Amino acid sequence: MKVTVVGAGNVGATCADVLAHREIANEVVLVDIKPGFAEGKALDIWQTSPINLYDTRTVGSTDDYSKTAGSEVVVITSGLPRKPGMSRDDLIATNAGIVKTVTENVIKYSPDAKIIVVSNPLDVMTYCAYLTAKIDSKRVFGMAGILDTARYRAFLAEALNCSPKDIQAVLMGGHGDTMVPLPRYTTVGGIPVTELIDEEKLNAIVERTKVGGGEIVNLLGTSAWYAPGAAAAQMVEAIVRDQKRIFPVCAWLNGEYGLKDIYLGVPVKLGKNGIEQIIELQLTEAEMQLVHGSAKAVKEVMSVLDNMKLVGA
Ligand code: NAI
Ligand code: 2OP
Repeated sequence: MKVTVVGAGNVGATCADVLAHREIANEVVLVDIKPGFAEGKALDIWQTSPINLYDTRTVGSTDDYSKTAGSEVVVITSGLPRKPGMSRDDLIATNAGIVKTVTENVIKYSPDAKIIVVSNPLDVMTYCAYLTAKIDSKRVFGMAGILDTARYRAFLAEALNCSPKDIQAVLMGGHGDTMVPLPRYTTVGGIPVTELIDEEKLNAIVERTKVGGGEIVNLLGTSAWYAPGAAAAQMVEAIVRDQKRIFPVCAWLNGEYGLKDIYLGVPVKLGKNGIEQIIELQLTEAEMQLVHGSAKAVKEVMSVLDNMKLVGA
């Protein structure tokens, strides 16, 4: 069983490394447009196999998609990352062109693949891949919520001095500063988080989560890769092992939460068919308002893509 990762940069190579190390696929194909880059990264990862004791093969390819043929899942990470001072939305023009071309190639060789988009601006690049691929929206979705909730859970574990393993959380909305962490759906070992931390501290963690990507961009001069790569690999695992896991995923909405024709982060069940269910939470009016506010921000960037007329409906 083959998984392809397009973009052998920071996020793509990390994702491929996790997929190989954890034997999530038999073969991982890394593709990049930079000559020799994917081959070099794939070779380096493969040479960890005798040390890390796994037998997943990693193969690199410079823009030759025939090597990706028959992939069960394709992760798209190709595109520019954020630099300090840039928002994710600043990347739209360049990354939309890249995501469109890549998606055309992916679908040509793997028409039955599930496509996980990682490139930013995430919600709109997922929309771009969907418009290009012209396949069921259950097979085209984006990675953001697992990363954003991981940040939220990591901050909470630090504040509560407890294991991050015990923190479960849901977060909704777009992958941007309008994302909506949901304290009412956050538990620590089954205990509502609100019983363990005071409101002021919790609000500070929610606010830090919303700008968690920017915090790393300011520290590194480029965006994060360890957590994003691992998050994308976790989605691949849920699909190839048909785990039916419940994750926040950027999914195409068709009336859920009173929203239609939009890609937005919502809790879903992920299995071998891709998105097998969109879960509708009973949100309060205030939570719903935040989700709709985030949807409005995403729609604005979606219309920037529509107005570029790069990809047709
Ligand atoms: P990077 O610059 O390290 O890697 C991107 C790679 O894409 C480069 O190696 C580049 O040569 C390649 N590439 C460019 N055009 C291509 C094409 N047409 N075909 C194949 N490969 C192509 O960037 P990094 O840090 O890996 O980030 C990748 C993307 O993921 C960025 O857009 C970034 O903003 C986004 N990102 C999204 C996250 C999320 O939560 N959804 C989290 C972190 C990053
Ligand atoms: C992140 O959240 C920038 O989307 C990237 O790390």
